[in-house]
Amino acid sequence: MGTINQSNHRLLKEKDLLYIFLLSIPFILSGCQEKNYAKTPDSTALQEVKTDAGQEDLLKRGKYLVTSIGCADCHSPKRISGRGPEEIPELKLSGYQQGQELPAIDQKVLENGWILFSGDLTAAVGPWGVSFAANLTSDETGIGNWSYKQFETAIRKGKYKGMENGRDMLPPMPWPAYAHLSDEDLQAMFAYLQSTEPIQNAVPAPIPRDKLTSLQSKK
Ligand code: HEC
Repeated sequence: MGTINQSNHRLLKEKDLLYIFLLSIPFILSGCQEKNYAKTPDSTALQEVKTDAGQEDLLKRGKYLVTSIGCADCHSPKRISGRGPEEIPELKLSGYQQGQELPAIDQKVLENGWILFSGDLTAAVGPWGVSFAANLTSDETGIGNWSYKQFETAIRKGKYKGMENGRDMLPPMPWPAYAHLSDEDLQAMFAYLQSTEPIQNAVPAPIPRDKLTSLQSKK
């Protein structure tokens, strides 16, 4: 019995190694071809993310979550095509673009209870004023020099810049939904965001509701 178990065990280990090797091939390839994983997240911020999963697994899980939960819906600039808004790959997750002009805002529509989105969904107007989707890339104008603790505070407590005493995050950032994600998932998402290409883009500060008149439509 003992020998059978041992040889089974050895076989399994060899199989596992082969499996791990096969799994890593797409990453090795994508590392050569794609820009996405060009940056190895080795910052001290990431050292806070303690996990048993290997680095590649962590990034893979993080990319999967960020992509499928739809962070890009608001955080990626888009070009408007015949099929509607399409993500601009080279500006992925870099937020509302600095210097971009807001379309005119029709106050009447807001008074009627509507909430407005800019065409690429990176700016939204509502009773809170205008909010601009943040830069989530690894640049310092994004979250590149954030600690994991900041990311956790931002997502779990809805605090801008992840500062405990900072202002509350504005809509439509759906942090109350994301606040329920597990530690492992948040860590993976943070690791992935830290691995993105740094895109320099200082997103403007929100505009309070009472300042909206200056942006009013001429109609
Ligand atoms: C429906 C639109 C929307 C979606 C979807 C969305 N966000 Fe946001 N997010 C925003 C807006 C708008 C802000 C800016 C809020 C503010 O200024 O208070 C923001 C802010 C943030 C901030 C704070 C940045 C800072 O500088 O303080 C983080 C972190 C963040 N989002 C992460 C994410 C992640 C991760 C996802 C996906 C899991 C996501 N967001 C999905 C709209 C969105």
